[in-house]
Amino acid sequence: MKILLSGGAGFIGSHTYVELINAGHEAVIVDNLYNASEKVLERLAEITGKPVVFCNADVADKAALSAIFAQHQFDAVIHFAGYKAVGESVAKPLEYYRNNLDTTLTLCECMREAGVSRIVFSSSATVYGALDTMPLEETMVSAGCTNPYGWTKYMNERILLDTAAALPGWSVALLRYFNPIGAHESGRIGEDPVGIPNNLMPYITQVASGKRDHLSVFGDDYDTHDGTGVRDYIHVVDLAKGHVAACEYLKDHQGAEIINLGTGTGYSVLDLVNAFQRVNDIEVPYVITDRRPGDIATCYADPTKAKTLLGWQAEKTLEDMCRDSWRWQSGNPNGYRD
Ligand code: UFG
Repeated sequence: MKILLSGGAGFIGSHTYVELINAGHEAVIVDNLYNASEKVLERLAEITGKPVVFCNADVADKAALSAIFAQHQFDAVIHFAGYKAVGESVAKPLEYYRNNLDTTLTLCECMREAGVSRIVFSSSATVYGALDTMPLEETMVSAGCTNPYGWTKYMNERILLDTAAALPGWSVALLRYFNPIGAHESGRIGEDPVGIPNNLMPYITQVASGKRDHLSVFGDDYDTHDGTGVRDYIHVVDLAKGHVAACEYLKDHQGAEIINLGTGTGYSVLDLVNAFQRVNDIEVPYVITDRRPGDIATCYADPTKAKTLLGWQAEKTLEDMCRDSWRWQSGNPNGYRD
């Protein structure tokens, strides 16, 4: 298949690019490099041994995107492009709603005009909101999102569900990611947050490298096995393979499917810190602080539907995630800015 990757230079997009090429597909990356580096493209060529087809364009720019659809005959689209920082979305709701909805609407309009009818969307477990029945199943009704970023994922899902219902022949996979961490085993591509990381694993790797003094563990009084928050961490390469499986599934499918991409196993903050220290033989000093507002105690997936529909399941272990995250950080202390 020939697949357009919107936001394909980002963390999950770049790993998905590699897995698509490995599986024999063609891919075209469309990215405005707002939150990604051009260096990713060289690294992708190095890993795959093939030149990368890249279009520097904003996915919300209708004229630019139409020109790309006119140039290529796509079989499917994977839509990653969007702003993704939870805290920033609270401070800048208009920017988040404008960008994250415009990109989806423009992409869908271009698809309709070009006769492309298969789309995989980068959604998030955040759309479940603060449900407290675990594991999370796709049929559960959302408890409502807690921030504008989450609502943009929720609204994008709605847009795509309604479009799939209205346009004959459309086929949509809404992939709800749990907590992607890790990096490609080459150590050449990985997560490259700007400024102080919001998420746990990038923070741990920066503490381990000496860039930051210590980790703050946000609360140890949750109702979990050690009191710290429990999440379903998934290796980004497993997640990327889930996208390949979804594209292949959409070939012979019509309508829309919501699919969790998680491992089904929850680990606490301290489980992750301890595994990281053990696997990499390196200290991660931490202090326990107050809970972070908006956090929930526990979140993990029921991954049965992904296995049944896509024949996909996560294979990598927590140790793999810790080892690969550290290989990326230690080999690229300043991310792509070296
Ligand atoms: N945590 C810390 N210290 C830190 C950072 C995080 O203790 O410095 C804890 C959190 O309290 C939480 C766990 O580590 O218990 C994971 O936190 P992350 O910020 O890494 O991930 P979240 O589960 O909060 O959020 C992630 C994605 C969101 C997405 C959400 C969906 O970052 O984009 O999952 O459930 F919306």
